[in-house]
Amino acid sequence: MLSSPLRLATRSSAPFRPGSAGLINRYKSRNYATEAKIPINIVEVGPRDGLQNEKGVIPVDVKVELIEKLALAGCNNIEAGSFVSPKWVPQMAGTGEIISRMHRLPNVHYAVLVPNQKGLDGLISVLNTYNSSPESESAPSPSDEISIFTAATDAFTRANLNTSIAESLAKMAPMARAALDKGLRVRGYVSVAIACPYTGQVDYKKVREVSKELLEMGCYEVSLGDTVGRGTPSQVAEMLEEVKKDIPVGRLAGHFHDTFGTAVANVFTALEHGVRTIDSSVGGLGGCPYSPGATGNVPTEDVLYALQGSKYQVTGTEYGKGSVDLDKITEIGWWISEKLGKESVSRAGRALRAKKIREAEMAQDGEVRAKL
Ligand code: HMG
Ligand code: MG
Repeated sequence: MLSSPLRLATRSSAPFRPGSAGLINRYKSRNYATEAKIPINIVEVGPRDGLQNEKGVIPVDVKVELIEKLALAGCNNIEAGSFVSPKWVPQMAGTGEIISRMHRLPNVHYAVLVPNQKGLDGLISVLNTYNSSPESESAPSPSDEISIFTAATDAFTRANLNTSIAESLAKMAPMARAALDKGLRVRGYVSVAIACPYTGQVDYKKVREVSKELLEMGCYEVSLGDTVGRGTPSQVAEMLEEVKKDIPVGRLAGHFHDTFGTAVANVFTALEHGVRTIDSSVGGLGGCPYSPGATGNVPTEDVLYALQGSKYQVTGTEYGKGSVDLDKITEIGWWISEKLGKESVSRAGRALRAKKIREAEMAQDGEVRAKL
């Protein structure tokens, strides 16, 4: 039984009389296109989670262009890179240069992932350079947010952060404090919120406990990661019900990898449970270096497509007409995938491109016939 206010709202306008046609007609006549919609946020993680797993060298120029294109498609939350060890995640080397060089738009949050104090120091040094430059008078800051991360199992935390959960939290608390003191927003991740690649099924109580600690250290939001991409909607529902016992749902986000093709269904399950922020990746890029076989995040295109005509409305900047523009995101998904020497894995992105090509061919045929 769903307890979300959304479900209750659809039932509240008139009493339900069993056997009457009233309820059925009310559902039939619902028109989400004209009703006030429920605003939701997308955190575009393609430039970080998407690219971190790529094997080939991706030039800095391409990464800069990707972030700029995403902002111009309406994205207002972009995870731009990470300050992690280049020995372990070489693809993220150069994040400082990227965030300094990219053209930054107002009202867009550009976040970076930091694993430790060394990573935070790297970011602060970039910010100090910006603050003492004439650029600070005119251009938004290279970054206004850090993402810190831990997990719901010790085995995964050890693989990803080289520590136990408890040690990772103890190291992150002063980092979060230092970032907040610098005026940065802090977002937390709990990886393996459903299943762990090393220990299997996860204890959701642990997800709740770790999320609570992240919020207590100053995270404005905790993103719950199905890192392995193995979760089903019923598991996501069960996990959220457990986490919500301690945490207001408005402080939670959903981060679903799509290994088993359940990510869009998991997104909708999370929304029905009151989650209002979803992480997604343009073109379905990505994976986690510490979760063998896991594929990319849920593609942004697939989420935007599936939300069309629903009661939810993705918020975005003026460049996406107040939302995130599906056509532009589809183009970007293909553009970046081709730069990486592959095709977009977004199902919606593929179908929309095929439709566009078909329409262009038909238009061309029409022109030829008109000339005959
Ligand atoms: P450590 O404790 O220093 O140990 O770092 P180490 O042996 O891993 O260090 C290796 C080298 O990296 C050392 O240099 C360190 O100084 C250096 P060396 O002495 O060999 O010359 N180093 C750094 N360099 C630059 N920036 C840093 C940094 N830290 C250490 N910040 C640590 C341990 C975990 C920090 C390091 O191994 C690391 O950065 N690992 C990469 C972690 C990572 O990026 N994981 C993927 C992102 S998380 C994710 O994808 C999940 C998520 O999407 C949610 C989900 O899907 O569930 C968020
Ligand atoms: Mg991830």
